[in-house]
Amino acid sequence: MHKSNKAQLRSPRSQRPPRPVHIVGTGSYLPDRVLTNADLEKMVDTTDEWIVTRSGIRERRIAPDYICTSDMGTAAAQRAMDQAGVHAEEIDLIICATLTPDMPFPATACLIQQKLGAKRAAAFDIEAACSGFLYGLEIGQQFVTSGTYETVLVVGAEKLSTIVDWQDRSTCVLFGDGAGAAILRNRGPDHGILTTCMGADGAQADILLMPAGGARYPASRESVSAGMHYLKMAGKEVYKHAVTAMHTAAKEALQKCNLTVADIKCVIPHQANIRIIEAIAERLEVPMEKVYVNLHRYGNVSAASVAIALDEAAREGRFQRGDLVLLVVFGSGLTWASCVIQW
Ligand code: UT7
Repeated sequence: MHKSNKAQLRSPRSQRPPRPVHIVGTGSYLPDRVLTNADLEKMVDTTDEWIVTRSGIRERRIAPDYICTSDMGTAAAQRAMDQAGVHAEEIDLIICATLTPDMPFPATACLIQQKLGAKRAAAFDIEAACSGFLYGLEIGQQFVTSGTYETVLVVGAEKLSTIVDWQDRSTCVLFGDGAGAAILRNRGPDHGILTTCMGADGAQADILLMPAGGARYPASRESVSAGMHYLKMAGKEVYKHAVTAMHTAAKEALQKCNLTVADIKCVIPHQANIRIIEAIAERLEVPMEKVYVNLHRYGNVSAASVAIALDEAAREGRFQRGDLVLLVVFGSGLTWASCVIQW
């Protein structure tokens, strides 16, 4: 869409849902404790120079023992609710995307429901790793656009510091803790989420995983001593898939809306590695000034990453009402997703 947003959005190829769904509030929460690259130099055989050059990360946040994933998710949700002017009793559904739930069950979304006092809300978790927040947005959107629910809270929350092997320099420098949230509602006939795309490739499940703790390898003395409860990643393989999948997903979302990247005001990608983000920007031919990046401050926060970035970008005024925003993510599964929103 080059001449006018309006003209193209009326075109038959627009994926605008029958009842538009809007993000009416966003929020995020980051723990206070900052772990810098200099701190990591004292913990493992690494350097600030290596971490910055290879990933772009300078520091990350680490939650204390007494703050769980549900606490961070609740804090982010409360900020989103405050911004939207939504009370806990108005929420119909809570979806929490996480791969570090407080416990295997019950769902972290149920714990957030209790902490918020959202007594009317149904609640469940989804696990799509780093893609979880956009998967959650798509699911939540379906409930609002169909008229089943009026108000849906989508949370991405992670305490990755609990599944990172702090002796493995190839992974421990990359991840952090935090949460982001969004409130979905219909705000009227204009704007809203224009399209979402989701994909997965289970054939690549073994390149990014936590092997034990589920039904396949239940927790045992052996699984603990073999380090099977830590996140394992074949970094280079994941890197290649991430660039290809996010580029393809971004293009697919734009095509479905009959848009080009020139129409987009702000691109918000998953925050795993600055080199991945720059590679995607180059392939999409989008200048980095349009791309929102906060990974130097927080590292990779998996399902929370894009949710935190969306909240910060919105609060910093990186886009205004009516502007087009493209979100694109990638994670274990493998999974990927993209989303175009007219703010
Ligand atoms: O959120 C889900 C998606 N996740 C991702 O998208 C992550 C994708 N992968 C990546 O971002 C990158 O592959 C990494 C940042 C993980 C690694 O960067 P790389 O350029 O692929 O490095 P590498 O794994 O090939 O390692 C290069 C070298 C190795 O040494 P040799 O074998 O060349 O002697 C590593 O042992 O760097 C070494 N190395 C380190 N050196 C210092 C690995 N980690 C470190 C470290 N400090 N922390």
